[in-house]
Amino acid sequence: MASVTAVPSSANAPSLKGSGDDVSTSNGMEDSIHSFKVADLVIELSQTHKAKPDLTNLVFGTVFSDHMLTIEWTNAGGWQKPHIKPFGNLSLHPACSAMHYAVQLFEGMKAYRGTDDKVRLFRPMLNMNRMAKSAERACLPAFDRAELVECIRRLVQVDREWVPQSDSASLYIRPTFLGTERSLGVKKPSHALLYVILSPVGSFFSTGAKPVSLWADSKYIRAWRGGTGDCKMGGNYGASIYAQHEAVDYGCQQVLWQYGDDHQITEVGSMNMFLFWNNENGEEELATPPLDGLILPGITRQSILELTRKWGEFKVCERYLTMADLRCALKEGRVKEMFGSGTACVVSPVGRILYQGENLHIPCQEDFPQLASRLRKELTDIQYGRTQSDWSVLV
Ligand SMILES: Cc1ncc(COP(=O)(O)O)c(C=O)c1O
Repeated sequence: MASVTAVPSSANAPSLKGSGDDVSTSNGMEDSIHSFKVADLVIELSQTHKAKPDLTNLVFGTVFSDHMLTIEWTNAGGWQKPHIKPFGNLSLHPACSAMHYAVQLFEGMKAYRGTDDKVRLFRPMLNMNRMAKSAERACLPAFDRAELVECIRRLVQVDREWVPQSDSASLYIRPTFLGTERSLGVKKPSHALLYVILSPVGSFFSTGAKPVSLWADSKYIRAWRGGTGDCKMGGNYGASIYAQHEAVDYGCQQVLWQYGDDHQITEVGSMNMFLFWNNENGEEELATPPLDGLILPGITRQSILELTRKWGEFKVCERYLTMADLRCALKEGRVKEMFGSGTACVVSPVGRILYQGENLHIPCQEDFPQLASRLRKELTDIQYGRTQSDWSVLV
């Protein structure tokens, strides 16, 4: 049994304007979109509450909160009212285009509870911008990004108790967007479903922050020019599982994704890649591959670039890096650190790369090198509210 409740007022909602990631500055198109509106939100509360899990041994993405947000769209009727309702299964037509042709995309973001008991989102408009871009590529309808952040804030408010009371755990937020066309024709969907589910996650480093090992082989590629590697579409991830298993067969934890005959380094596992080194000209440099269509524009990546540029302590560069560059720099002792970045782990140091039968050992002082540690601290201080920042949005 569930009850329909009045929609709580959003009068106290902090404005996203001035948050540093202001939607109104991104493309000015928002006003022309006939989007769903948080003002139309219908909330149906669950009468039952699931037990909260023990976070210490929680496997990522296996436990879900009590509620979910769903918003339907049809070409004929436009966006329908957003609904927050008890978490439950979806009912989909067997011909649904998400199932057959991967007309699908998702996002990954988190809500963090600080020691002040306030719950915060980290730069949610950046997730919305990326989601809007993925939606355009998937031929799914446009939506008002600020309205979706507001709907997500309301969902997290409803399931606030699910945001762990811990400065290392968080509530993972998974916005998902499906083409629900009831036809086997390969075409732009005339029906779609946007939904958001919440899953508590423990500390990524509960067993200690150990550097990861990578398998670098050009046998499989994650992305290609003109493809969808810069969008967060399910097909990119489903197709990567096979290579991930091969990495494990070779005694490595994740894949280092390369591209091209010159073995450009693109991403590591589901993370962006950073190299901190003395470059070919002897300059101390933090380098990451440029957003040229092959790379997912990570929110953590952007934040690391903005933070380190603000520090102004070393050169910060978006540039191509090849395996030959890395191997040469390692031989000459010019590599200081290498790490992946992403919402799940913030930063994850790389300790070893298996490449062409050779183990390349990356310097990793005390498992968590200096720059990676500093970045992790600065970013988590913002996420958990220990440092005031306009990157935080209160729930
Ligand atoms: C392929 C890929 N690269 C990079 C990232 C890091 O992105 P973010 O920092 O937004 O989590 C992710 C995670 O979403 C990813 O799936």
